[in-house]
Amino acid sequence: MTDDRVPPKPAARPDKVSLRRYVKLFRQDILSAQPAKLYRAWMAEFRTPFFRSYLINQPELVTEVLKERPMDFPKSDRIGEGLRPLLGESVFLTNGAQWQRQRRIIDPAFEGGRLRETYPAMWEAAQAALSRLTVRAGEVVEIEEQTSHAAADVIFRTLFSIPIEDETASAVFHEFRAYQRTQPILNLAAFVPVPRWVPRFFRRDTKAAARRIRGLIARLTEARAAEIAAGTAPDDLATKIMTTRDPQTGETFTASEMVDQVAIFFLAGHETSASALGWALYLMALYPEWQERVAEEAQGLQSGDFAEIGRMRVSRDVFRETLRLYPPVPMMVRETTCPERFRNRDVPKGSQVVLSPWHLHRHERLWERPDAFDPGRWQTENGRACGRDAFIPFSAGPRVCTGAGFAMVEGPLLLSLLLRDLKVSRVEGRDPVPEAHLTVRARDGIWLRIDRR
Ligand code: HEM
Repeated sequence: MTDDRVPPKPAARPDKVSLRRYVKLFRQDILSAQPAKLYRAWMAEFRTPFFRSYLINQPELVTEVLKERPMDFPKSDRIGEGLRPLLGESVFLTNGAQWQRQRRIIDPAFEGGRLRETYPAMWEAAQAALSRLTVRAGEVVEIEEQTSHAAADVIFRTLFSIPIEDETASAVFHEFRAYQRTQPILNLAAFVPVPRWVPRFFRRDTKAAARRIRGLIARLTEARAAEIAAGTAPDDLATKIMTTRDPQTGETFTASEMVDQVAIFFLAGHETSASALGWALYLMALYPEWQERVAEEAQGLQSGDFAEIGRMRVSRDVFRETLRLYPPVPMMVRETTCPERFRNRDVPKGSQVVLSPWHLHRHERLWERPDAFDPGRWQTENGRACGRDAFIPFSAGPRVCTGAGFAMVEGPLLLSLLLRDLKVSRVEGRDPVPEAHLTVRARDGIWLRIDRR
């Protein structure tokens, strides 16, 4: 039987367009601003009057940039521009020695062993999400709002041992939503030809929202510092990060550095997971046969015991397939620090190097049936090979997402627990259209009908 269902993919633009038109398309959505040939190319060059960008789409080149010589390809400053008022000197934006030091303090909190200790808090957040959705049974629901709520709850419970209903947690969550509405597209500055000497203006409401969020976070970190001093702090991620000393210098994070880090954990940890879970639930509605398999497997999920998650194999493959088709971070940008030569082409110093999980994950010369949803592919030879070489939803190398292991527990757990008791179905005429802003989201939300199983 042939399967003519295709998970939504944005229409590509024509191969040749003027720079003006490109910028205009880009402002609307970075995915549909790209030509279809990027799904077949190993590399592409974008020339603008002020600098050049090179999109690299060949596994060997991606490995060189991310894994073999990461320090030669730092994060481009342009990327941080829209986010700096909120994130300050957070690990997501820094480079070089400062970034290395921050990772030495943060990484121990996310080690495999710690994940087991974090799991009960994740389980409680998943239960709470299930309860919120169960009362909506029989309704058509905008699911991204639900997944954002759930992912934010996971972060607050694991980081600060407080649920999203906590007054400060809830205020941070709502302020973040307002911030996102005022915030221009994350990667815009990396592509568009704005020279460095042009001053950057943040909208006044963006700056004000960033200040409010940072004020709220500071309240949380100050309270925690006092609890640590009094010996009454809960053993969660915040305590772990605030008490870990850099093994090289013996220092802990300062109070303001900790606010920067909490802001990025919240942003990177909830926007991305919410996006992935939203798409996963939509795909389950589009492919009810896979939904049934996840639901069946999830019937055993009862106790909140960490070992259970190891048995959620179908759910994990579904979640991985979702990250392949809808990588929450669709593109990443680095900068060359010396002249390079890629695929026999000179790449000048100061060029932007664009890595595109979106295009690599759907590369027509690497993946079998690249646009098809097939969680079974992860058990095939092609799926395994591409999983190693052409699958980077969390980036790769030393700068890999600190929360990758965390997210690969959180996503399958939420998916399984929700589908254990509930059924999701498509709403005719309301299939989502992917669009990339801060993360890959649906243009008009993801609408699904919820029923009890
Ligand atoms: C499905 C969920 C997630 C996805 C797809 C994802 C993806 C990514 C990607 C692609 C990067 C690299 C960005 C770049 O290099 O430009 C990144 C970095 C990062 N992520 Fe995640 N992430 C997820 C969940 C999380 C969670 C749950 C946390 C924390 C609780 C987290 C914390 C971070 C941090 C701190 C960085 C910066 C690392 C560095 O630059 O050294 N992420 N993430």
